[in-house]
Amino acid sequence: MPKPLAAVVLAAGQGKRMRAPVPKVLVQACGRSMVEWVLEALRPLEPRTTVVVYGHGGDAVKEALRGRDLAFAHQPEQRGTGHAVQCALPALKGFDGDVLVLCGDTPLLTTEVLKELVDGHRPAKRDLTVLCAELTDPGSAGSLLRGPGGGVREIREAADASPKEREVREINTGVILVDYGLLEVALGRLTPDNTQGEYYLTDVPKLLLRDGKAVDARMTRDETSALGVNRPQELAEAVRVLRRRAVERLLAEGVRMEDPGTVLMDAGVEVAPGTALGPFVHLGRDVRVGKDCRVGPFAVLGPGVVVGDGVVLGPHVELSGCTVDAGATVAGPARLHGAAVGPGARIGPGVSTDGDGRVVIGEKASIGAGSVLHAPVTVKERAVVKPGSVLTQGQGGGSGTG
Ligand code: UD1
Ligand code: CA
Repeated sequence: MPKPLAAVVLAAGQGKRMRAPVPKVLVQACGRSMVEWVLEALRPLEPRTTVVVYGHGGDAVKEALRGRDLAFAHQPEQRGTGHAVQCALPALKGFDGDVLVLCGDTPLLTTEVLKELVDGHRPAKRDLTVLCAELTDPGSAGSLLRGPGGGVREIREAADASPKEREVREINTGVILVDYGLLEVALGRLTPDNTQGEYYLTDVPKLLLRDGKAVDARMTRDETSALGVNRPQELAEAVRVLRRRAVERLLAEGVRMEDPGTVLMDAGVEVAPGTALGPFVHLGRDVRVGKDCRVGPFAVLGPGVVVGDGVVLGPHVELSGCTVDAGATVAGPARLHGAAVGPGARIGPGVSTDGDGRVVIGEKASIGAGSVLHAPVTVKERAVVKPGSVLTQGQGGGSGTG
């Protein structure tokens, strides 16, 4: 039986360097907050408990993660990553297993990387494994210092490192896997005798080594996963990587793209094989597009838009809060909000919707070029709306309305 696993996600910091109006871990990357990306990567590992440590920004982090199967621990003052983990201990009281500690500001972590860490740690019977990466530019990350024999000696934070130590290219990703009992004891022994006056989680390996415990580092093969996001420049880099991953996944699944570098996709997008995305298409969070569709160029689908199979969305089509059923065509340009487009419906160029409420367009209905549909309005099945019509409530019932 493998040892049980629990997780602690550190999300209490302000993130001064980001200068965001919200706690840093809530800053969005591709339509999902950084801490949500971390939790998504973690979920398939099925930890017994996942404790999120929050603090800066009041209940904002807790509120943003409401409804998930998580435990929360409050860190009233941000006195360092070691102190943050200490705040999580009561939520894990009596746990007998390994604790995976992660930072909420590493949105590029993947499930594969975490699995590799856990799978490598268990059979090796280690007490602590720190996930490291080899980077050409170590940035502000902590350096992994090794002893003469090549074994891990300690982690040195950039703020405390000598110029030579700062050149070390092996860095701490912020992910540590450690036996709960040993962690508890070591955290109790941390002291804030460093440049920043903080309780560093990264002092735990050194303390365990002093007690003769088995401590090792695992190098990740995917160094993009190691990026800690502290500043807007790093956020932009993270977004680039997330987008590239999404594009590569869809290409591999059989989605064609004329100019993949210009396609922007947020988190949770699904596009079925056989569909072609034109240049400069933007798919918002959780958009779903069926198979054999043609989308774009310059089409923008807002969060949650659902498009069926065999749909054609022309150039400059903008959809928000819409569903488009199989076989429908929306010629561009168009700006549809809150519309339910029925199967096989045909929408001519220059059509727009405005007003509040739903616009329902029946199966195989046809909307002439340049029409404006003022919500709420329903166009019946197979109805033909003449070009240039302005439809308001109660209209659109018969054929030839306008
Ligand atoms: C930390 C590590 C560093 C590592 C880097 C990887 C420490 C001391 N340093 O540095 O070795 O290379 O991550 O990205 O662990 N947080 C709290 N409470 C606090 C302080 C921080 O919850 O009191 C949270 C933050 O919200 C953040 C995470 O811990 O999500 C990391 O904190 P941050 O200040 O970004 O640490 P780094 O300087 O990046
Ligand atoms: Ca960081």
